[in-house]
Amino acid sequence: MKKLLGISVSRRPWGNCETSIKTMLLSAAGEGAGTDFIRLTDLRIEACRGCFKCLTNDMVCPVEDDLYALLEAVGSADALVLAGPVYFLMPPAALVALLDRMLTMKGRERPVEKARPAVTLAIMGNRNWRGVARPVINMTVSLLGFDVVESIELVAEGPGEVIMDDRVVGRLDEVGRLLARGEPVSQAERSAACPICASDFFRIEPPNIVCPICGSVGDLEVYTGEGRFTVTGGESRWGLSWLDKHIESWIEPSLARYRDKRKQVLSRLRELKSRFSAEQ
Ligand SMILES: Cc1cc2nc3c(=O)[nH]c(=O)nc-3n(C[C@H](O)[C@H](O)[C@H](O)COP(=O)(O)O)c2cc1C
Repeated sequence: MKKLLGISVSRRPWGNCETSIKTMLLSAAGEGAGTDFIRLTDLRIEACRGCFKCLTNDMVCPVEDDLYALLEAVGSADALVLAGPVYFLMPPAALVALLDRMLTMKGRERPVEKARPAVTLAIMGNRNWRGVARPVINMTVSLLGFDVVESIELVAEGPGEVIMDDRVVGRLDEVGRLLARGEPVSQAERSAACPICASDFFRIEPPNIVCPICGSVGDLEVYTGEGRFTVTGGESRWGLSWLDKHIESWIEPSLARYRDKRKQVLSRLRELKSRFSAEQ
């Protein structure tokens, strides 16, 4: 039996995120799946301290909060649905706090069997104000060890208003059932968006178009002519295997480089600190 976990990044009980997730969970339960629901803001997920202890010492983050309890729940799920609202063009701070802590995924046991599917939702009041929430939500979910098989954007303003849209509710119901049955969830058409992270904002670097979130490189001419992002090169910053590679090839060597000059850095800092205190 499949276990479907729903995570809402909104603090509003029965707001649009929660209502959408619970619609999917109910449909999944109707197919015999086990379901679990977490409101991210009910947990205490503190800011990353930038100490890199999760990559050294015991490979454990020294912050004592609910991060590892959340990762346990995420680790035991067969599929994930995660919904977050757009707040001032961004995902809410609670999601970014979680993303900031993802270096700890390096030291953790991962499900080795086939990729686990996730469906994400970015919910907003106004499509023209959708900002950059969707790809950031998707990146977080990819670093939690899931394959984002569908990334849905919904417009719903007032709390719970999403329930009034029969077409959307029908799709959520369908997605919940498909995930419960372990059947493929077909990707909605999103040709103008980055095919890896679903971002629809880009950096123009002629002759390329570059996705600033996942780093995918596309063909600018195809994009301007056909409105399609076709990946032509570059290494996409995506998922746990990329995280491992990034840590091994960049972060760990940078920590070693810092260790070599730590004494000089501390000595100059001491001098600056004493000048600073003298001025106060
Ligand atoms: C503080 C705040 C900031 C918001 N900023 C945006 C925004 O930048 N763009 C947008 O389209 N909607 C914005 N919204 C609207 C929410 O994204 C929208 O109401 C969403 O459905 C909320 O989901 P919820 O009911 O699950 O909390 C904002 C709402 C709040 C409370």
